[in-house]
Amino acid sequence: MSRIFVTRPIPEAGLAILRAAAEVEVAPTADGDSTPRDQVLAGARSADVHVSLLTEAVDRELMESAPQLLGVANYAVGFNNVDVAAATELGVPVTNTPGVLTDTTADLAWTLLMAAARRVVPADAYMRGGRYRIWGPSLMLGADVSPGGDERRKVLGVVGFGRIGRAMHRRAQGFDMDVLAFDPPMKAIIEARPDVEYAGFDELLARSDFVTIHTDLNPSTHHLFDAAAFARMKETAILINTARGPVVHEAALVDALKSGQIGGAGLDVFEREPAFHPGLAECDNVVMLPHIASGSVATRDRMATMCAENAVAHLNREHAPNCVNPEVYDTEAYRQRVAR
Ligand code: GLV
Ligand code: GLV
Repeated sequence: MSRIFVTRPIPEAGLAILRAAAEVEVAPTADGDSTPRDQVLAGARSADVHVSLLTEAVDRELMESAPQLLGVANYAVGFNNVDVAAATELGVPVTNTPGVLTDTTADLAWTLLMAAARRVVPADAYMRGGRYRIWGPSLMLGADVSPGGDERRKVLGVVGFGRIGRAMHRRAQGFDMDVLAFDPPMKAIIEARPDVEYAGFDELLARSDFVTIHTDLNPSTHHLFDAAAFARMKETAILINTARGPVVHEAALVDALKSGQIGGAGLDVFEREPAFHPGLAECDNVVMLPHIASGSVATRDRMATMCAENAVAHLNREHAPNCVNPEVYDTEAYRQRVAR
């Protein structure tokens, strides 16, 4: 019987689909723990399809040691944990879970934006700490997101105008914001829209009250936000990152926050997750979350279903619905892999 290996437990909605198609081995890793690398490698070697979470690397070593693999199904929209170039070269189709988590992720990015602007986390700690004695005009003052008291439309800078970036744009319209977008491959499409203005990266940084990151992680976005970028931002600007941690140079971010070069940050992802720069915890103008942007019950179920359907397509030697390297299907390496 065919076998599918899953590197860590995923929701039952997906496991049920996998079990109907194959014998399924889920690494017996407790929630909150990571699966040791040797177990991941052994699982991949014994399986026809490898289902991975974003916490496990799917690299050349793993794919070379598993010549029988028919495909990799990643349980995430981001796939920087997978060496896609090596996968294509070795004839391995790779899939992700796009679309289903767009609004859930944008909702959380918006939550971070609002929470950082209105100081929700320190205000909550103030209440719990029993420090609220009397209402006053200067208690826990934050920044407006809507036009508010100064009647100025705030500017949202969206870096990466893909599905999630566009979902942020929709939310910004409800708050009467002006939206700038930076995304070089999308430039012509953005410029054709009346409701968003294309801006170069430096211009976006200089003009935005809020900057929200929705790019994937690749060599051109690694440390895109460095000391020079923070120096260009407004002193009041708030940075939101729900994409991938290494897009931001975290030590430079801490310096920018501590020196008052920028106003605050809302972070769901970190450069060396689960670790984060200790300086971040010292800044009360930072809101930090443990990578939960797609974390609603319904969305995690949809991701599991989608991931499982991709895995079953790999198993059946069919073109998978969400293949990120579809050119693989035309390679000799793929033909040899599925011919056995
Ligand atoms: C989560 O980070 C994802 O890429 O789905
Ligand atoms: C505040 O509570 C107000 O009524 O202005």
